[in-house]
Amino acid sequence: MSTIQRITTKRIRAMKGKQKIVSLTAYDYSMARLVDAAGVDMILIGDSLGMVIQGEETTIPVTLEQMIYHSKLVSRAVEHALVAADMPFASYTESVEQGYHNSVHLLQEGRVSAVKLEGGKELVPLIKKLVHSGIPVLGHLGLQPQMVLQYGGFVLQGDTPETAETILENAIALQDAGVFALVLEKVPRALAAKITDTLTIPTIGIASGPECDGQILVLYDMLGLQPEVKFKFARRYIEGGELIQNAIGRYAEDIRAVKFPNDGESYQ
Ligand code: KIV
Repeated sequence: MSTIQRITTKRIRAMKGKQKIVSLTAYDYSMARLVDAAGVDMILIGDSLGMVIQGEETTIPVTLEQMIYHSKLVSRAVEHALVAADMPFASYTESVEQGYHNSVHLLQEGRVSAVKLEGGKELVPLIKKLVHSGIPVLGHLGLQPQMVLQYGGFVLQGDTPETAETILENAIALQDAGVFALVLEKVPRALAAKITDTLTIPTIGIASGPECDGQILVLYDMLGLQPEVKFKFARRYIEGGELIQNAIGRYAEDIRAVKFPNDGESYQ
C-alpha cells in the first residue's frame, strides 16, 4: 500500500499563514508526474491549455470534454498533490443546474478533487450547491481569462478604488459561499495583500505580488517552452524551449551524419 499522503483541500486551507502554497498547471501524464514528484502542493488542469497546448489565442474555445480528457491524464499521474481542474467557458454560467451537472461530470470522469470557477457573487448559489454536494471549489477573481472579450485584452483588474472594492466584496462572498481557496490573477499588489489579510481562506496569486498565501504559474511559461512568449510575472526557471530545440537539432544532425544509431543502440 502507498505511504504517500495526498494533499487535501483541508490541508491547503490549513497552510494559510504557516507555509506558502506551491501551485502549477499541468495538462498531461508525463509532465504531471514530474510536477508532482517535485513536491508541488496543488496541480491545476487549467483551461490555459487552450493557449499552450492547442495554440488558441484565448481559453474560450476549450470544451468540457477536452478538460475531462486532460484531467484524466493528469489525475492518473499524480500521487501527492491536490488536483483541481478549470470549468471551461460557458459550462457553468447558464444556470445552477448546468454548472452542477457539468462539475459532477468533470469530477467523476476527470478524477479531479476540486473544480475552479471564474467569477464573483453571481456564482454564490452554484458554489453553495457544489460544496453541499461534496464538490470542493477553488475561486478565481481579478483577471478572469474567460472574460477577455469583455475586457478587450488580458488587462490588470482592480486598479481603481471602485473596482478594487468590488473584487474585495466578491472575495468575501466566495469565501462565505464555501470556496477552499481563491486564485487572484493580475490585480495590484496592495489589493492582493488586502484580500489575503481579510480572508481566512488562502489566496493563490498569479501576477499579483508576493503577499498572497501561495503562487501559481502556467507550467509552460516557467519552463520557457514557448520561447517567444515572455511575461514579466512568469519567472523562467529553465529555457526549456531552446534546450529541446537544440537536442532535436543534434538528433537530426546525428541521423544525417549516420552517427545515430551506433552499434550499441541498434538492438534491444
Ligand atoms: O487556466 C489557468 O491555467 C489558470 C491559472 C493560470 C490560474 O487559470
